[in-house]
Amino acid sequence: MFDSSKRQIGFAPPSIDNECIAAVERVLRSGWITSGPELKAFENDLETYLKSPRVLCFSSWTTACELALRWFGVGPGDDVLIPAMTYAATANIVLHCGARPVMVDIDPIERVVTLEKLQAAWTPQTKAVMPVDLGGWPVDYKAIGNWLNSAPIRERFQATSAVQETFGRPLFISDAAHSFGAHIENMPVGTQADITGFSFHAVKNLTTAEGGALSFSLPSSLDLEQTTAWFRSMSLHGQSKSALEKTQSGTWQYDVVEAGYKCNMTDIQAAIGRSQLRNYPDHLNRRKEIAAQYTKALETVPWCTLPVLKDATRESAYHLFSIRINRFQSAQRDALMARLKEDGIATNVHFIPLPLLSLHRNRGEHMRHYPESEACFNEQLSLPIHLHLDDEDVTWIVERLCYHVGELMTPHA
Ligand SMILES: Cc1ncc(COP(=O)(O)O)c(C=O)c1O
Repeated sequence: MFDSSKRQIGFAPPSIDNECIAAVERVLRSGWITSGPELKAFENDLETYLKSPRVLCFSSWTTACELALRWFGVGPGDDVLIPAMTYAATANIVLHCGARPVMVDIDPIERVVTLEKLQAAWTPQTKAVMPVDLGGWPVDYKAIGNWLNSAPIRERFQATSAVQETFGRPLFISDAAHSFGAHIENMPVGTQADITGFSFHAVKNLTTAEGGALSFSLPSSLDLEQTTAWFRSMSLHGQSKSALEKTQSGTWQYDVVEAGYKCNMTDIQAAIGRSQLRNYPDHLNRRKEIAAQYTKALETVPWCTLPVLKDATRESAYHLFSIRINRFQSAQRDALMARLKEDGIATNVHFIPLPLLSLHRNRGEHMRHYPESEACFNEQLSLPIHLHLDDEDVTWIVERLCYHVGELMTPHA
């Protein structure tokens, strides 16, 4: 028998092994710690894993995807379609560009946006469509991509930048912050949209502490080399040369033609990422096993709706295991989280829907327009799913969860 009273189960602690620590030490001792050879190697490794023509890394998903919107020329007067149920960053980058985040409700079963919901929100001002693979579950990329390429959309698209002229349609940029390692028709998520943005934040399946990457799968009318050179340069103040290139003898001079940002990834971060990527298939398998254990334990529990993790063509990255406790209100869910916390079990909620945040309320958003996101928020609870959990931990979590939900559902005299 294990002593359950001593268990402390974190929500998403990172998995940093000795190999990872040694990789970081090697870079620290190498004489070059910012963007350099280790970053290049990480980008190459990511291209191989994702089967992508080009991957570039940045300081976060947020900086990477904001750069992508700016590259496309998204600005004042433009709309970008996003889900109402997402993290603040998805909307923030649209606002940073001076454009309008247009929110779309989620599907109650899949908890991501569907083609139909996007179609209903589309207008000629829509310059980009940015769905979110919530919890690692991929949206229907094929349907969205085909729609954005269709004649009616192309005919009504009003290009206002040179890149937009070349596209002749809105940008399909995926918020794949959660879905690194998800698959569609046996292909990793990463090449189905024009640009796929991943997050390597500390709680993500694959982490570089902070960091993000863009995987490019652009129309052939665009020059990939030229485009990605622009992204690389704009992540370093718009300089024509990186810090490493400037140190190489005889080539110190550089030019700046555009006011860029400072959002590069360092070699230290890349060393963490490379080490994580080497072990990623095993990590993903363990996540899958945990999800299977939760599913087996909870699939016949009447108050519980499980997340969709696999269908005929798609498989999740198992980033989150978010259940819905049918007909719960958010206060009951919060009480449940507090009780689980007392048992040493950390849980989370993904997410507070954007219209409930002051920023968006003050922009005139209201939850009544997003009933599915509201119901999902009230009922939603994300259970721990990470590599520090053993099977007994999962059994313990399920046991305490069922006990507390039973208590909270029973009317007391
Ligand atoms: C759905 C979603 N999009 C974007 C982000 C932002 O990622 P980053 O922290 O790497 O900027 C997050 C971060 O948690 C997220 O959950």
